[in-house]
Amino acid sequence: MTQYTRQTFNEVMIQNYAPADFIPVRGKGCRVWDQTGREYIDFTSGIAVNALGHCPDELIEVLKSQGETLWHSSNWFTSEPTLALATKLTEKTFADRVMFVNSGAEANEAALKLARRYAVDHFGAQKSKIISFKQSFHGRTLFTVSVGGQAKYSDGFGPKPADIVHVPFNDLAAVKAVIDDHTCAVIVEPIQGESGVQPATQEFLQGLRQLCDENNALLIFDEVQTGVSRTGYFYAYMKYGVTPDILTSAKALANGFPIGAMMTTHDIAASFSPGVHGTTFGGNPLACAIASKVVDILSAPEFLAEVNRTSQQFIGELAKMNEKYGLFKQIRGEGLLIGAELVEQYAGKAAEFVKKAADKGLMILVAGPNVLRFAPALNISQTELAEGLKRLESVFAEID
Ligand SMILES: Cc1ncc(COP(=O)(O)O)c(C=O)c1O
Repeated sequence: MTQYTRQTFNEVMIQNYAPADFIPVRGKGCRVWDQTGREYIDFTSGIAVNALGHCPDELIEVLKSQGETLWHSSNWFTSEPTLALATKLTEKTFADRVMFVNSGAEANEAALKLARRYAVDHFGAQKSKIISFKQSFHGRTLFTVSVGGQAKYSDGFGPKPADIVHVPFNDLAAVKAVIDDHTCAVIVEPIQGESGVQPATQEFLQGLRQLCDENNALLIFDEVQTGVSRTGYFYAYMKYGVTPDILTSAKALANGFPIGAMMTTHDIAASFSPGVHGTTFGGNPLACAIASKVVDILSAPEFLAEVNRTSQQFIGELAKMNEKYGLFKQIRGEGLLIGAELVEQYAGKAAEFVKKAADKGLMILVAGPNVLRFAPALNISQTELAEGLKRLESVFAEID
């Protein structure tokens, strides 16, 4: 049998990623094993995706059963699992209409197109301005990198979609200065995930809601990373008590089986009439059946209460370690989306911590160059948590 190695990646893959030296081959719960049989505790859950851990039994059952029933039928036909999932999401959120896609970027692409089309339908083509935030991340299509606030992702691809402005995050005065009746939408992550786990303030999101209402602009919450119980709320907007007009979700929605969703109200959804937007795979029965089970489990109040308990424990343990080693200037986040910002001495070195952690049998993430990001499975067991934290402390001890 051919033995594939990390070197094979360099030989056959486009080099737009730089994966770790080890190759995971198997996972269960919060543990992963590589090709050599070495075990890792996973504090990444595939970047906030495997919310129920790796290969959870409940989802394997659904995968097998739907796999023997119907995988894909295209959007010329709807399916029972699609309708079941949409019904659950409309019952559990502000939304009363859902469109399924295959990723977070696609969900945001759909949201941005819908906002533009809604403005054209109701106010005219001049209402096209989109307000977004510096350091924000919304995906990698040309529209979503252009709306995202990071030049390193958007520059170098030729002309960008027009009429997009970026202002500082958590700065309501800056939004006030640019919002007007030509603005069709404001898009925001309730917690900026990729750029350092930065939570929006309550006043900021409330203020955005008010400014959008005053200017007939739609408020879009990108909950691709914060959604599906990651913050200890089914969606983070529920914590803030600020309701968007459009909400996007993906990542954990089917625990790693690709799916995304754009949710909105009946009135706004009307601008997506037949043929206006679409995708071949979006809403296929296999993805929707798995997501349906995920939503059942993750939206349960007892489950959410447990996420909040684990969050306090995780943050508490990190804080204790920090008292000992003094590596972080701030530990922040909500639920199990946690960022630890390195002190000046270690600024720019987050990636080195990730490498050292892997050497100790622990998978962690960065969120920008200065922040370690922890996003374990939401149902991480006490044993896995304790073992992971022990390995983390050994990384800190070594660096110290
Ligand atoms: C807030 C946010 N929006 C959008 C995306 C893009 O999602 P995807 O990679 O599934 O396209 C991400 C991915 O990290 C994200 O964190």
